[in-house]
Amino acid sequence: MKYLLALVFISTFVFAELETKSKNFDWWKEAVIYQIYTRSYADSNGDGIGDLNGITAKLDYLADLGIDAIWLTPFYESPNVDFGYDIANYMTVGKEYGTLSDYDRLISEAASRNIQIINDLVLNHTSDRHPWFVDSRSSRSSSKRDWYIWHDPVDDSAPNNWQSIFGGSAWEMDALTDQYYYHFFYPGQPDLNWRNPAVQDALNKVMRFWLDRGAAGFRLDVPDTLLEDPGMRDNPIDEGLNWVGDPNMLHEYNMDLPEVHGIMRQLRKVVDEYPAAILLGETGSPETIDELLEWYGDSDELHLAMNFLYTNVKELSAEEFKKHVIDSDRNADIGWPVYLLSNHDRTRHLSRFADSLHNDAIAKQLAAMTLTLRGTPILYYGEEIGMTTQNPIRLEDVKDPIGRLFWPDFKGRDGSRTPMQWNSSQYSGFSRAKPWLGVPTSAAKTNVETQLNDDQSILTFYHKLLAIRKSSSALRHGEWTHIPTPSHEVFAYLRHSPSDIVLVILNMSASVHDLDLHELIVSSTFEVLLSNQDRQVITETLLKLQPYETVIARVLKAQNG
Ligand code: GLC
Repeated sequence: MKYLLALVFISTFVFAELETKSKNFDWWKEAVIYQIYTRSYADSNGDGIGDLNGITAKLDYLADLGIDAIWLTPFYESPNVDFGYDIANYMTVGKEYGTLSDYDRLISEAASRNIQIINDLVLNHTSDRHPWFVDSRSSRSSSKRDWYIWHDPVDDSAPNNWQSIFGGSAWEMDALTDQYYYHFFYPGQPDLNWRNPAVQDALNKVMRFWLDRGAAGFRLDVPDTLLEDPGMRDNPIDEGLNWVGDPNMLHEYNMDLPEVHGIMRQLRKVVDEYPAAILLGETGSPETIDELLEWYGDSDELHLAMNFLYTNVKELSAEEFKKHVIDSDRNADIGWPVYLLSNHDRTRHLSRFADSLHNDAIAKQLAAMTLTLRGTPILYYGEEIGMTTQNPIRLEDVKDPIGRLFWPDFKGRDGSRTPMQWNSSQYSGFSRAKPWLGVPTSAAKTNVETQLNDDQSILTFYHKLLAIRKSSSALRHGEWTHIPTPSHEVFAYLRHSPSDIVLVILNMSASVHDLDLHELIVSSTFEVLLSNQDRQVITETLLKLQPYETVIARVLKAQNG
């Protein structure tokens, strides 16, 4: 398969059109988003908990790294049953995180470095301490009663068989009024009733409150759980048990209801009042790309829908990643792809994919892939230094309630939320006091300070990679073309814009692979932009790819071969 010449010939038409489009290119399509787990990034006031001022103090680090936007996990007032995903007041900053003026300062300091701030927005539920719920629960005749989902017992028990994702029934009996309320997550996270227009209005106000302060939009928490079947029908039960030991349930009547798209369109209208604001969805339930694409609507729902099919790839396998990327890229015009490997809910990707022999090469390879695909990548804080997941060893140290509930089978999510490893000091430069979660032992060696001074470090690799991405029109917004290779363990592709062609080769295996570039593309001159090995130049077209070798090369000259 010889791709290059064809590309060069068709370029005049296709690329001229692309170039015109790129003038109005939306910022979020070219952006690299960096997720910060607010509680764990940097503690400015010595209480052991990360805060907004701590993040502001690290903006130079982030600007140097080359990211364009920060997604901040919830920093609102919360009793922290689910560490901020249980909001008790949407229009405040929780006191452990700072004040509204700290938020305003973060926005303006970030803006002066061309960094956008994306807030996390939890729409499905509030905390049970939210005044709305306190009022709702107070009596059956409360004006807020219908803001949540209340139901009489059926045959002296829960209204139906719906289970909470965190284990047990999704219904909690409230003795005060003898009715059950519904919670898809913890009992401390009662579901809002999104069929009530007053709820929608209240949340629209919340959105405008933050957008007026300069937020660049929202990461929407679990949008797929917003609506439930009004008939409250039982969900079908599948074979076997789920991860928390409950019967496997098909969430037919309490997830992904089609009417949710009407809500997405209405939320989109609100953010569209603000020219630069976006909606980024935690779209976790799609099992196919077609299901994922539904979240984009007709460009009138989410701007960006996270592709968890890519995130969920279990093994470091070229075949697996290729499959999902081809699928996703084919539809880039309908739904701009969003690629991420880690977040605060799952084991960090280096812990999932490392083989102990090639960890450094693997960390760099996964970064290279995620940051050179066509789409918007989301990095998770600390992945740029190769942070790994360190789970608590003792039950008494576990903070995440699901970790305590299901110990020791499941140790919760704390292990991926540990303090950022800034240096090798006792509390890793995160705080001067004992942090809310223990600092992983890896911090002694794996930290920002050490890696900034090492030109072979993972951090230096991310720096170079982000700089290359920024300076290459092909990588920022060019087309993506898969190049079939003889080995199923090698993933190769081109990114191309009118003025730039970049070749990416990823050997996703511990074996050496010979790759004849002549076989792939018409002979060309290559300039190696970045490699996770010692490769500086490509002189021969026969490449002996080392285990997990990654090469990013500019294609300089296409010859008629
Ligand atoms: C999302 C969050 C997760 C939280 C859950 C409930 O999945 O990422 O951390 O526990 O929603 O809000």
